[in-house]
Amino acid sequence: MTQIAAVTGAGSGIGRAIAEALAAEGAHVSLWDVQETAARDAAEAIRRNGGAASHATVDVSAAGPVRAAVDQVAGAHGRIDILVNNAGICRVAPIAAISESDWDLVLAVNLKGTFLCSQAVMEVMKPRRRGKIINMGSVSGKVGGIAVGAHYSASKAAVMCLTKSLARELAPFNINVNAIAPGVIATDMTQAITGGDFDRYLATIPLGRVGSVRDVAEVALFLCSERAGYLTGEIIDVNGGQFMD
Ligand SMILES: NC(=O)c1ccc[n+]([C@@H]2O[C@H](COP(=O)([O-])OP(=O)(O)OC[C@H]3O[C@@H](n4cnc5c(N)ncnc54)[C@H](O)[C@@H]3O)[C@@H](O)[C@H]2O)c1
Repeated sequence: MTQIAAVTGAGSGIGRAIAEALAAEGAHVSLWDVQETAARDAAEAIRRNGGAASHATVDVSAAGPVRAAVDQVAGAHGRIDILVNNAGICRVAPIAAISESDWDLVLAVNLKGTFLCSQAVMEVMKPRRRGKIINMGSVSGKVGGIAVGAHYSASKAAVMCLTKSLARELAPFNINVNAIAPGVIATDMTQAITGGDFDRYLATIPLGRVGSVRDVAEVALFLCSERAGYLTGEIIDVNGGQFMD
């Protein structure tokens, strides 16, 4: 049976790569992004390559649009098998310079967005007693922000803890909930932080390179598959060995 997947923040970077990888495996993917053009272009590219994809303009930090997107996918397909909570924003600032509004924004997108999408999709998954939810954590949520702001790293720590709460509560419904904690992955987000100069990170990464979006997508594919059926509440580091715990 075709897997029905929703990927947030799928208009670029890691989310787009995960959407493409799921579509290449035969899933129908709904690409959600706050940037309409990015989501539409990414969905069109999947369809040009023979995959099945639709898109929706969704701000994951707002309950109404999230609920509408979930209803649309569930209404069209009768189910949602996979949710990838990938949408996220990053800000770089010392703690003294973080404004209240920026704190609220980062937490709203990264943490509340993951909560709202999971809460809405789990009600679609529960009656069918199957589902996979993948959240996007970060190495910074384990070690504290180094190159990124404290609001970002705090949000990612909370996402990884939320993953465990969801996993515990949804296990009786046979829904697996896991997270990926990427290290430095080459995307628009890290381009904005580093200006494309990744050299200063290389000495800290035992594998000697920054990660690619494909590195993360491969792990997401595994977590969405039945091969990962006995994994739940797990946080998988994809960081080239930069941080080992
Ligand atoms: N790139 C890295 O090195 C890295 C490392 C650790 C974790 N992550 C996490 O991986 C995820 C993807 O990051 P990326 O590097 O691909 O970033 P990116 O900026 O390339 O892509 C993020 C996408 O999310 C979308 N988005 C932003 N706010 C949104 C909202 N409110 N609602 C819906 N969509 C929204 C953006 O439009 C964009 O398309 C994020 O959660 C990020 O925190 C990235």
